Amino acid sequence: MKILGIETSCDETAAAMVEDGRKILSNVVVSQIDIFAEYGGVIPEVAARSHLEAMMPVVDKALSDASCGWDDIDAIAVTHAPGLLGSLLIGTLTARTLAILHDKPLYAVHHLKSHVYANWVSGNSPEFPLLALVVSGGHTQILYMPGHNQFEIIGTTHDDAVGECFDKVAKILGLPYPGGPSIAKAAKGGDASHYNLPHPKVAGLDFSFSGLKTAVLRAVQKEVGVPISYPSHKLKELLTPQQVCDFAASFQKTAVEILCEKLEMALEQYSDVKSVVIAGGVSANEKLREEIEKIFCRERSGALAQVLLPPKNFSISSFFFPTPALSGDNGAMVAAAAYYEIKSGIKPTDPYTLNIYPRISIEK
Ligand code: KG4
Ligand code: ZN
Repeated sequence: MKILGIETSCDETAAAMVEDGRKILSNVVVSQIDIFAEYGGVIPEVAARSHLEAMMPVVDKALSDASCGWDDIDAIAVTHAPGLLGSLLIGTLTARTLAILHDKPLYAVHHLKSHVYANWVSGNSPEFPLLALVVSGGHTQILYMPGHNQFEIIGTTHDDAVGECFDKVAKILGLPYPGGPSIAKAAKGGDASHYNLPHPKVAGLDFSFSGLKTAVLRAVQKEVGVPISYPSHKLKELLTPQQVCDFAASFQKTAVEILCEKLEMALEQYSDVKSVVIAGGVSANEKLREEIEKIFCRERSGALAQVLLPPKNFSISSFFFPTPALSGDNGAMVAAAAYYEIKSGIKPTDPYTLNIYPRISIEK
């Protein structure tokens, strides 16, 4: 079964052709990073206009790269929630129009579900029940999945998402947008133990990242000797390149430790889980991958699957990451998620009435 997946929830215009949920025939991603690097963040109105320009060329390329015509396509899948309103509209209106025009079943997929299914299309085979640590620019959640298409949110952030925190800290340090990759790069030249940053005290499996961002801000102000009233966008001018690297490394270490602590707690509580999947843009972070491996895993079987260190009392066998290219937003994960919906007997949506939901939960 060949599915065309379309993704436009934020600042990537993406389309892909995937066969049977796992085989990528094409994967086209046009990023708007260059536009937003200048502004230090996404401007929703500009993002929507850029999607409009890129959308059909991206779909056409996804088809031609896969050597597919419309007759070869069994279904169309599109992100309809959550995300930026204008961005979601461009993707869904395109998918609705194409589904009507070419008489194809249409599947509307939740963005976090797609991130989770990026693991299957990366070649991983996680076993249920599993835990998914979803770490993106908009979300930080731990999900319990008893089976395909079943999600229970067992931990979530009270404020900022971890990716958002990377982006905000990068801005304070004068590093380019998106903050995740630029912090990871700067951290390579820094000392992660140079600045001692606090871990927030949040009950249970929930997270909070806005306090960590403020802690970095206060530490930078202290380091360069300015009062808290000093304009934060000017702090970068007072930091030396080495201080930037040390702050990047110390922040990254703390953010990764917070994620790993909560994951460890979740594994203790959900002792029936057989696999853990990491998903979302932040799952590309090398330090996160290394740390998870160090804490939870003993040996590698291939680059992706790892075996747990005994004698931890988790009855779990493996941790999985998407390939780095599929960690961020892409159409392949949307097509993969729709394939597993079809396999579970979920019916297609009506292309004439499909709506978008900028803030809806994955549990709904
Ligand atoms: O999943 P994603 O592409 O879009 C959303 O659904 O939000 O995630 C984007 C987020 C951004 O905040 C970006 O800074 C972060 O993922 N990110 C990273 C890395 N690459 C992207 N964060 C840490 N380390 C990375 N290597
Ligand atoms: Zn995403």
